[in-house]
Amino acid sequence: MPIIAPSMLSADFLNLGRDIEMVNNSEADWFHLDVMDGRFVPNISYGMPIIAQMKKMATKTMDVHLMIVEPEKYFEDFKKAGADILTVHYEASTHLHRSLQAIKALGMKAGVSLNPHTPVHLLEDIIADIDLVLIMSVNPGFGGQKFIQQALTKISKLKAMITASGSNALIEVDGGVTLDNAPALVAAGADALVAGNTVFSSPDPADTIKKLKQAGK
Ligand code: DX5
Ligand code: ZN
Repeated sequence: MPIIAPSMLSADFLNLGRDIEMVNNSEADWFHLDVMDGRFVPNISYGMPIIAQMKKMATKTMDVHLMIVEPEKYFEDFKKAGADILTVHYEASTHLHRSLQAIKALGMKAGVSLNPHTPVHLLEDIIADIDLVLIMSVNPGFGGQKFIQQALTKISKLKAMITASGSNALIEVDGGVTLDNAPALVAAGADALVAGNTVFSSPDPADTIKKLKQAGK
């Protein structure tokens, strides 16, 4: 069964406590938390203070996705805010190897995210050092966008690379994940599915999470 990570970007921020409780009580595994700086992506979301507040109530893994330039400046701050997994973008990291070591030295799992145009083979020489690869299946910056089909091919290629290398890296997919495409994503090799709009726009979010969890079964 895939790991399900509801994206809190689509939560109702006037009722954030209620939505966190819903995730706590659901079959979801992680909280997916999107940090945007208006520079790496054309949108600004939330940062450490909100994550620190959420952490007080959240009972599940805090999966933090940094869509920011110079992410390395803030690793310690996100650790303090409560991040368990910290993912940086390949495209925002000049010294990716150093960044991954720094994240792990702080006691977090280290993730790398790839934009839709970035080929998976660029991770070939660093895959052994990665705990999680986040494949973007939309252009990062906004929730509720349409799934880019090529992501499916990228998942298969990445899965083959991970298997061949003996790496333990998990594959997470982010953007446009629905109940319809989830089974194909799991079949291609995805270990974790992020879902924002699909969960929070549904009439029964907890039931939608339950259904996503069944994908590929
Ligand atoms: C987009 C974010 C996603 C987003 C996914 O930049 O990284 O996590 O919240 O939202 P949906 O599932 O609605 O595409
Ligand atoms: Zn994300």
